Amino acid sequence: MTPDAPIGMFDSGFGGLTVARAVIDLLPHENLVYIGDTGRYPYGNKPADEVRRYARELAHSLVEDYGAKMIVVACNTAASVALTDLQAELDVPVVGVVEPGARALVRVTHNNKVGVIGTVGTISSGAYVEAVRATGANVTLTSAACPGFVEFVERDQTTGDEVTVLAERLLAPVRAAGVDSLLLGCTHYPYLAA
Ligand code: DGL
Repeated sequence: MTPDAPIGMFDSGFGGLTVARAVIDLLPHENLVYIGDTGRYPYGNKPADEVRRYARELAHSLVEDYGAKMIVVACNTAASVALTDLQAELDVPVVGVVEPGARALVRVTHNNKVGVIGTVGTISSGAYVEAVRATGANVTLTSAACPGFVEFVERDQTTGDEVTVLAERLLAPVRAAGVDSLLLGCTHYPYLAA
């Protein structure tokens, strides 16, 4: 493996490009290969076993077909259910987005009430509950699944009444909990926050 081998990244669609942007900004001299699995998106409403299978296929392809020297799982849903398997079966480092997000979340809160939103798959996996617990921080976490957000982003519909009405309904529990810090636990969501 040569140092100029690419970093491999994948997501169900173009949401992971928000992570690619951050990697490019931090490591401008690295080459990247990015796969957006738009043929099988969305992942967030699929059973964990199916998402795990897709994640394994894509990660193996990035290493075996594109010579990736490391993998960034730029999808919270895939990272929530497949990171441990990928780390066990690939010979290159594999990093996800859940643990770094959880660490950042507990660092920025002032009132120790934090929130995370994500796909149904991510939230129901419990990955963020576990990752926040693993930080050891004394915080109360409120989680909310936001079905529909990803579909808006993939349709390039990021503003307007429909988005606002859905967001107000789905974010009501985190608002009611009085969180002062909210983690966008899906790589598509920054497009809605912009
Ligand atoms: N962008 C992905 C995530 O971070 C998945 C969205 C989806 O395909 O439902 O969870």
